[in-house]
Amino acid sequence: MSNVRPESMERITTEALADAFIEEQVAAVKAQVGDKKVLLALSGGVDSSVVAALLIKAIGKNLVCVHVSHGLLRKGEPEQVVEVFRNKMNANLVYVDAVDRFLDKLAGVAEPEQKRKIIGAEFIRVFEEEARKQQGIEFLAQGTIYPDILESGPVKAHHNVGGLPDDLKFELVEPLKFLFKDEVRVVGKALGLPDPMVYRQPFPGPGLGVRCLGAITRDRLEAVRESDAILREEFAKNGLEGKVWQYFTIVPDFKSVGVKDGKRSFEWPVILRAVNTRDAMTATVEDVPFALLQHITARITSEVKGVNRVLYDLTPKPTGTIEWE
Ligand code: XMP
Repeated sequence: MSNVRPESMERITTEALADAFIEEQVAAVKAQVGDKKVLLALSGGVDSSVVAALLIKAIGKNLVCVHVSHGLLRKGEPEQVVEVFRNKMNANLVYVDAVDRFLDKLAGVAEPEQKRKIIGAEFIRVFEEEARKQQGIEFLAQGTIYPDILESGPVKAHHNVGGLPDDLKFELVEPLKFLFKDEVRVVGKALGLPDPMVYRQPFPGPGLGVRCLGAITRDRLEAVRESDAILREEFAKNGLEGKVWQYFTIVPDFKSVGVKDGKRSFEWPVILRAVNTRDAMTATVEDVPFALLQHITARITSEVKGVNRVLYDLTPKPTGTIEWE
C-alpha cells in the first residue's frame, strides 16, 4: 500500500469531515481484518487512543488493547486509560502492571540513552509476552501518523524501541497513517474521547524517566510526578493549558541546603520548564506571570515530599534542549 497521502484527501478540520473519515476507516478496517483479532499497545497518548477508539467502533472486542503500566506515566494517566477504554468504551483491555520490572531494570542506570534503551527494550519484552498469551492474533494496530512516515516528526524520531520478533510480525493496521496531528485530534473528538486525552501536550516515549535525572529512584520519581501534577493543575486553572506547547517538571539528582519548619533541610530542587515551539527543533520560553511562579513554588515546596527549592528554566532551544536528558 502506498505511503503517500492521496492528493484528493481533504484536510479534516470539522466534525462532519471527521465523521466521514471515521465511517470510511471503519469499513476499511472491517474489510481488512474480518472477524480476526487485532492487538494494540495502548499508551493513552493521542495517537494510540484515537486508533483504539476507531477500532473499537469497527471490531469491538476483537481489538485487544494492551496497556503497559511502567511507572513512568504522569499522575492519573494509567487510571484514565482504564476509565475511558474499559469502563466507558467497554474495550477488551489488558492492563499490565510492570512498574517493578521497569524500575528494577533501571536501578542504578544514569546514562540517558541507556535509560531510553532499557525502557524501549523492556516495553517490547512486556508487550511480546502479552502478545504470546493471546490466541489467534493476526493483526497489529499502530498509531502511525503522517509525520512519522515523512520522518519530519522530531518527537517520535527519538524512539529507540526496536521491534517485535519475527514470529510476531503481524499484518499492520494503521488507520491514521495519512493524518496530521491536528486532524487526529479532530477525529478523536468526533469519536467521543475526553478533551484532556485529545488535546494533551506532547509527552516523550520514556515518560517521566528522562525527567528524573540520572539513576531513577522511586522517591525522586514520585517527586517528579507530584510536582508535574501541581504544575499542570495550576496551568489549567490559570488559562495556560492549551496555550503553552509543553510544560513539565524535572528533578535532578542532587540536593541543596534549605530550612523547613525551623530546621535545616537537605533536599532536591524541582525545575520548571514551559516552552513554545512549532516543530520542537527550536523553542522559546513561556513568559509565565511571576506571581503564578511564586504560587507554584509555594505549593511544590509544601506539598511535594523531599523538595525544598523550585527553579524556572529560562533557557531557549538552542542552547538548551526541551528535555534535560
Ligand atoms: P528535545 O529535548 O530534544 O525534545 O528538545 C524535543 C521534543 O521531543 C520530545 N522527546 C522525546 N520524545 N522519545 C520521545 O518520544 C524520547 O526519547 C524523547 N526525548 C525528547 C520532547 O519531549 C520534546 O517534545
